[in-house]
Amino acid sequence: QLHSATVNASRPAQAHYNVVFDIDGVLIKGKQLIPQTQRALQLLKENNVPYIFLTNGGGVRESEKADQLTKKLGIPVSPDQLVLSHTPMRSLSKKYRDANVLVVGGKGSDCRRVAEDYGFRKVVTPEEVHAAYPSVCPISFCEARPVPLTDSHLQNVNKPVEAVMVFHDSVDWGRDLQVCLDALVSQGGKLGTIKDSNELHSTKQSVPIYFSNPDVVWSNEYPVPRFGQGTFKMCLEKVYQHLTLQELESTTFGKPMKPTYQYAEAILDNIAPLQKDAGQVQKRTVYAIGDNPYADIAGANGYGWNSVLVKTGVFRPQGEENHHLHPATAVVDHVEDAVRWIIAKEQ
Ligand code: G3P
Ligand code: MG
Repeated sequence: QLHSATVNASRPAQAHYNVVFDIDGVLIKGKQLIPQTQRALQLLKENNVPYIFLTNGGGVRESEKADQLTKKLGIPVSPDQLVLSHTPMRSLSKKYRDANVLVVGGKGSDCRRVAEDYGFRKVVTPEEVHAAYPSVCPISFCEARPVPLTDSHLQNVNKPVEAVMVFHDSVDWGRDLQVCLDALVSQGGKLGTIKDSNELHSTKQSVPIYFSNPDVVWSNEYPVPRFGQGTFKMCLEKVYQHLTLQELESTTFGKPMKPTYQYAEAILDNIAPLQKDAGQVQKRTVYAIGDNPYADIAGANGYGWNSVLVKTGVFRPQGEENHHLHPATAVVDHVEDAVRWIIAKEQ
């Protein structure tokens, strides 16, 4: 009894507040670990502060991302602590369970596995379309690789597409823009067909399209931010509008969208249930640490969370204007300063 009491005495009770980490530009930059990351995580552990990861990244299953982060960060990361850009899109599998869905983004069949993990039963990817019909995209820099096309894959390639879901950043914009546009202007989703010009200019797109993240740019190890899925979306919108004289209608998930924060709050409810105080459930206090004012800060502010902006990613101190658009609770140099500021504030 004494032993467990002693052990408990040495470890502070679970903190009454939580931290939500953005990943790219805060903890890592591409393949590089940001120098202050491990100290920041250690400080949260010493103060017993529950935390999760909320990223507009993805392209792999949550279990795979958790394994990648465990190796990169040097601490155990559970899939239950992770919200990827497409995690909330799992809910779409109810509506599209048996629909033929064009899943776009990421390398090879990674996003196919994500979609099947979510319960989508009929998936086709632009890479498989390209493998089945090499002439679909003559300009692709990805040679139509001999993708192992099973009969069911081939069937799906020849079946009308019923929805397009961009699960991650495209690795071949030429191919993916082409195949997405083909589906959007097709006759009933049938790739290789196109509406007649009258219909093209007077009716809505042939299939719905969903994006998992609106980031125009994001921060990897290159000295300045790189195009994100939001730029791919802008290109597709522009080409669609040029061809049809209509606006492309779409649904976007990821930060700063509210469904993403509702999903993250549910994850926090699981790992750090709120305590009752005299019968009243406490209000959850959350500090979201991010590098992108348009995603991380706008999203946290919009959801009523505290936001801490770091200068190691998309946000550049000289870029003051994009900070004032979405004023953060605090602006600090890096993630360790962010954690120290939060702990001091909650002391
Ligand atoms: O593709 C990832 C990028 O869009 C941003 O990721 O972790 O900064 O939200 P993150
Ligand atoms: Mg980021």
